[in-house]
This record gives sequence, C-alpha cells and structure tokens, in this order.
Amino acid sequence: MSEIKKNKKSYGDLQLLKGIDLVTRKTGVIEIKGIKKSYGDLQVLKGIDLVIREREVVTIVGPSGAGKSTLLHIIGTLDSPDEGEILYNDIDVARLSRAGLSAFRNRNIGFVFQHHRLLPEFTAIENVCIPAWIKGVGRREAEWKARELLQLLGLAERLTHKPNELSGGEQQRVAVARALVNDPAVVLADEPSGNLDSNNKNELHQLFFTLREKLGHTFVIVTHDTSLADMSDRQVHLRDGIIEN
Ligand SMILES: Nc1ncnc2c1ncn2[C@@H]1O[C@H](COP(=O)(O)OP(=O)(O)O)[C@@H](O)[C@H]1O
Ligand SMILES: [Mg+2]
Repeated sequence: MSEIKKNKKSYGDLQLLKGIDLVTRKTGVIEIKGIKKSYGDLQVLKGIDLVIREREVVTIVGPSGAGKSTLLHIIGTLDSPDEGEILYNDIDVARLSRAGLSAFRNRNIGFVFQHHRLLPEFTAIENVCIPAWIKGVGRREAEWKARELLQLLGLAERLTHKPNELSGGEQQRVAVARALVNDPAVVLADEPSGNLDSNNKNELHQLFFTLREKLGHTFVIVTHDTSLADMSDRQVHLRDGIIEN
C-alpha cells in the first residue's frame, strides 16, 4: 500500500502508472462509492456503493434498463459518473489524465461484451495480441502470450482462423483471451453468454471460475443467466438505479 501512496504523489503519468501496474496486478480490489449518473432527465444510477474483493466473482443482475451496463461501464472507466468515486486499490481513477486512464485500463482491466467485437480481418491470435501491442509488448512476446492463452482456452487449433471461421462459443473464448492478454487484475463482462447456446454458455461460465482459480482474476459479470448468478460468490441486485440487497 505504501507504493500506492507514494505514487499518488508522483506527477508524471509514467511514474504513476508504474505503481498502478505493480499494485493492482496483485490485488484486484474495487471500491465504488456513491455513484450517480443521469442521461438528461433520466437518473440511471441513484447512489451505488459496492466493494469488490480480490479474486471475487460478482454478478450484477436485475431487469432490463436497471442501469447494469451503465454501472459496469463506469466501473471499467469507459464512462464517468456525475458523482461518486471508483477506487482501484486506493487509486482514484478520476485523478488520472486521459492518457493515464487509457493506459490504466489497457493494463488493469479486461473487457468481454455480449458481442465478441473481434476485428474481422485479423486472425484469432492477432485479435488477442492487439491489447498487448497497444501496451507496447514486442510482437514475439505478445504472440507467445496469446498462443498460451488460446491453448488454455482450448483453441490451439484455431490460432490462424478469422472470426467468421469460428463458432459463437469459439469467438467468445477468443474475446476472453483478448481480455486476459495483459494480465489484468479485473475482468468485466456484460452479458458475455447472451448470444450463446446452452452448451457454449455453460462452458464459458465454467471458464470464468477456472481462470479465477488458475490466474487469480477478479470478475464482475452482468448477466441474466440465473445459473451463472447462482454459481457466483455474490449477486448484486440492481433495480431502478439502486442496489436492492
Ligand atoms: N448513452 C445513453 N444515453 C441516454 N440514455 C442511456 C444511455 N445509456 C443508457 N441509457 C438509458 O439508461 C437506462 C439504463 O440503461 P442500461 O445501463 O443499459 O441498463 P441495463 O444494462 O440494466 O439494461 C436505460 O433506460 C437506457 O435507455
Ligand atoms: Mg445492459
């Protein structure tokens, strides 16, 4: 923790990021305090307080329109709240500069969405490499890491396939590998199995828990799937912009 305190006082992004990278990779703790968010007259989040612990698998459930995606985007620093704070191991992400925040996200947070969002003209392994290339990892090292992850996810035979040559389940596993390539502390997923049939769905859900055991990630997953919610360590019920439980 003293490293964070020290780095909070640093002025350059680079120095700050060194600390962020070092500390958050060890402990994926997220503290969400008093988050409010409106779009025009519509108040979507009305004061959200939540602490997510290291290596926890938390699901966010609730009816459509409850604010689940909005909350996940704010947790993932893709959107900013009107009020409140998001702290990653004491680091207030609102204090980071634009460039600092992009780098923070690239290194510390992996995203999986309902649609895989793979780039169609790139192969599976290239798609997985992209966040590593953005981070500045060399080509060879990025490919080595991407191959290792794709093998772990059962895709060793699919490395050079393009997304349209993969099944829905395979596409989503490539998206998971892409989320993990920079060893983030935290993986955020928004309805990751929403487009999958029940076999692929169950396989993907099981994968999240295997990854938590093997690699120690913290997972925050928005889902409508009650079996995934039941498997998770904790369910957060969101309704009309507040946490019910
Ligand atoms: N960018 C936006 N602009 C305006 N309204 C939005 C925007 N994003 C979400 N909303 C509205 O906020 C509410 C909550 O949306 P969302 O967080 O996507 O809910 P959920 O993921 O729980 O279905 C909805 O009424 C939605 O229409
Ligand atoms: Mg949503």
